[in-house]
Amino acid sequence: MDVDVKVIRTQLTELRTPLLVVNLFEGTGRPGGATAGVDEALDGLLGRLIDDGEISGALGEMTIVHNQGDRSRLAADRVAVVGLGKREDFDLEAIRVAAASAARRARDLRLTRFATIVHGAGAGGLEARLAARAVVEASLLSLYAYDEFKSPPERPAGKVEEITLVERDEDRAEVYETTAREAVCAADAVGLARDLSQGPGNVVTPTYLAEKARLMAESRGVACEVWGKEELREKGMNAILAVNSGSAEEPRFVVLRYTGGGPDAKTLAVVGKGITFDSGGISIKGSEHMENMKHDMSGAATVVGFVQLAADLALPLNVLGVFAATENLPGGTAYKPGDVLQTYSGRFIEVNNTDAEGRVILSDSLAYAAEQGPDAIVDLATLTGACVVALGHHATGAMGNDEGLLALMREAGDVSGERVWPLPLWREYSKDIESTIADIKNSAGRPGGAITAAAFLQNFVDGRPWVHLDIAGTAYTEGRPPVPPYLPSDGATGVGVRLLLEFARRWGAA
Ligand code: BES
Ligand code: MN
Ligand code: ZN
Repeated sequence: MDVDVKVIRTQLTELRTPLLVVNLFEGTGRPGGATAGVDEALDGLLGRLIDDGEISGALGEMTIVHNQGDRSRLAADRVAVVGLGKREDFDLEAIRVAAASAARRARDLRLTRFATIVHGAGAGGLEARLAARAVVEASLLSLYAYDEFKSPPERPAGKVEEITLVERDEDRAEVYETTAREAVCAADAVGLARDLSQGPGNVVTPTYLAEKARLMAESRGVACEVWGKEELREKGMNAILAVNSGSAEEPRFVVLRYTGGGPDAKTLAVVGKGITFDSGGISIKGSEHMENMKHDMSGAATVVGFVQLAADLALPLNVLGVFAATENLPGGTAYKPGDVLQTYSGRFIEVNNTDAEGRVILSDSLAYAAEQGPDAIVDLATLTGACVVALGHHATGAMGNDEGLLALMREAGDVSGERVWPLPLWREYSKDIESTIADIKNSAGRPGGAITAAAFLQNFVDGRPWVHLDIAGTAYTEGRPPVPPYLPSDGATGVGVRLLLEFARRWGAA
């Protein structure tokens, strides 16, 4: 994302910067901690603004004052006070919102750099490492913009090139150095996933997606295989071929292997849904919001982003990344409701709805991943509208066959802020996808739609520990308020990259 993040060990008031960000809890009445020192150097200006009710400390509130006084008392040109919200509600998410609000304001002021304290590490009482990561990740993610297809404007928007974390304590500063480096890698990986998901369907074709994965792999020394129609035919990946059959774009099957963990480390398989455009096929969708179906490859985008991150951080585990990419379009050669397909696993599936295509391509992708013998499988897919109905846009749905893995995933969700929430996968749901003509059918209709989709997928993981993440509600925003300021207000979120990192750290170490 080409923003430099630095850590400077100095007294806050001595740092020369165009903008120094400090903070305030709501309802505290007086500035505390680092903010108190800055207020003193400003002769109590911040305190007066609080008394006058101009600064409340509400979460994300931004107040900027210019330093008109003696630079030997306060070296910064401006001070920004960002609200942290109520102390009793304070958590890592509040830090993210505060940091992102400040970074966006710096950009809007056309500043090329700013400095900030690490919110929450002092008076907030949160673990310094986690607080710093939240500050850096959210700042960088808030500055993300997709302007690939915008002609240069007459007055270009501001661009922040450097963010400085200020800390006096030596041990803390050292922790921040490491954390900042990791957070920059994480933000880059999320940016890659966002770019791929945000790209329009006529550009981000299966061929393009596979090529981007290959380029990423090459640059990181990750092994990569890309198959086309011929190889899919040879392997018997008929499910992927069937979904592809209505499209003029060639399908791609991509396998990424990060082996930095070494032969004794566990292997995590991450499998993504890579539908570069989902029209529904013969079971065609309504035209309203159909344009959002360019995001239907967000799971695959996250796989590419996460493998890049694993390599950049040299994670001590192995990662097998797998995705199939194809469009889902209607036409004279398209697959049809009622068709029966023999999948890569050998199982027969009846297609009673061609719009339930994600689980069809995942059947082959998961079976392939399982065959490679990973210790756990996580799949990510914009799989069902039903999941959006169940959880809205505030959580990814999680289902699986292993309570331990699911618990780790929930923890990872809470810490990363990419929250996940479990839905049950009792065996009764498998009855709903029984077929009269084949082993199973691909759609059980509306009731429990997110769960019956997972029940379908379960047939292809060969009994391996597995978590399915339905990201249909979290992969993109559509200007839905309130969107936190570290997410684009209308576009791809890159969800899952930070979640998988947090999950992998817990699982890989166990
Ligand atoms: N890609 C869609 C799911 C989706 C819906 C993602 C809304 C993001 C937002 C998926 O392929 C689909 O069409 N699912 C169907 C399944 C049904 C036919 C059983 C759905 O959810 O309606
Ligand atoms: Mn569909
Ligand atoms: Zn789909």
